[in-house]
Amino acid sequence: MNYDIKDDKLAVDGELRIEWANQSMPVLNRIKERFKTEKPLAGVSVAACLHVTTETASLMQTLQAGGANVWLCASNPLSTQDDVAAALVVNHKMPVFAIKGEDNKTYYKHINAVLDPMPQYTMDDGADLVSTLHSERTDLMKNVIGGTEETTTGIIRLKSMAKDGILKYPIIAVNDAQTKHFFDNRYGTGQSTIDGIIRATNRLLAGSFFVVCGYGWCGRGLAMRARGMGANVIVTEINPLPALEAVMDGFTVMPIGDAAKIGDFFCTVTGNINVIRKEHIETMKSGAILSNSGHFNVELDLEGLNNISASKRTIRPFVEEYKLKNGKLINVLGEGRLINLAAAEGHPSSVMDMSFANQALSLEYLVKNKGKLKPDVYTVPQDIDKAIAKEKLKAMGIEIDVLTPDQAKYLASWDMGT
Ligand code: ADE
Repeated sequence: MNYDIKDDKLAVDGELRIEWANQSMPVLNRIKERFKTEKPLAGVSVAACLHVTTETASLMQTLQAGGANVWLCASNPLSTQDDVAAALVVNHKMPVFAIKGEDNKTYYKHINAVLDPMPQYTMDDGADLVSTLHSERTDLMKNVIGGTEETTTGIIRLKSMAKDGILKYPIIAVNDAQTKHFFDNRYGTGQSTIDGIIRATNRLLAGSFFVVCGYGWCGRGLAMRARGMGANVIVTEINPLPALEAVMDGFTVMPIGDAAKIGDFFCTVTGNINVIRKEHIETMKSGAILSNSGHFNVELDLEGLNNISASKRTIRPFVEEYKLKNGKLINVLGEGRLINLAAAEGHPSSVMDMSFANQALSLEYLVKNKGKLKPDVYTVPQDIDKAIAKEKLKAMGIEIDVLTPDQAKYLASWDMGT
């Protein structure tokens, strides 16, 4: 079996951590048990480009249980957990191509490696796999039947491909499921981003000024958790609606140009480029800490920062200290890459449980509906989304009410007023 990982000997540690994660993934485990008997993915080949974490390992095992052959690579050069990659290769005979800290060339070599076996389905996080397939590997397109996409950024890319008429096969936007973005983006990003910043810096958040750039689902979660740690949270936005929501959620809202002068911590979660630029960095307090939790490492203008810097050094793991020409010290965490996966372990398992249940069930849906969907971006079918919420509540031991017959009739009627 062909594979490329850091070290096979890490498999023992990886396996234990996968087992730990599995204990908090009841919904995915139920799907895995059903897949084992029903084999809905029998003989199906899947190229997966995901963060190689303990949670992803559980998803990969679920697909294997369903009968799929899976090739896995990383969706970010810094997010791979090398022990997990080793456990998948050694114990689960899965071809994995991912090494934490791989350079850009290796990152794309690994993407190409999972495409080489001519997959029928793609499972992507950020759309690098799909865009490589549509640009450099068009020869493989005839085998591809469908795909899924995990994240906001990937879906934006795919929708623009669909709009330009370039997208060649149907892709399910897992992120658009309510059981994904309401929970993973908000509570997952909220907790794991704070976790990454703290693990990297060991600095106190209480009493600090914490600037959150972007108030989408990820920004909402991050702002909420930073406030919970006692920080004074400032939100920056470009869209009046979420900006207004942030104001009414009790946060201070102002342009990044103003926030730059106040913040101790900055974290971008916008999905856009050059959100914090050199003109902002120059006005920051010495010692400011910059990080990103958006999908790509484009939100901090690192090139601009380099241009205004006299020197830089790694002061501790995941902390690059830049000395500006104006004498100030500015710290960048995790090379501006997803700090929750670079310096921590990504979202906790119990939230990935729902995200990856959506992945597994969306793939099953694509296999069942082979040939019926035109090339486009689709939302996760509502019955799947609802079934996942129901199953999660059940696993948590939480019961809810059911409509009485007269309540159901009332909701369906238009003539019953006061
Ligand atoms: N994205 C964010 N957190 C993740 C995790 N724990 N595993 C896979 N993908 C993720």
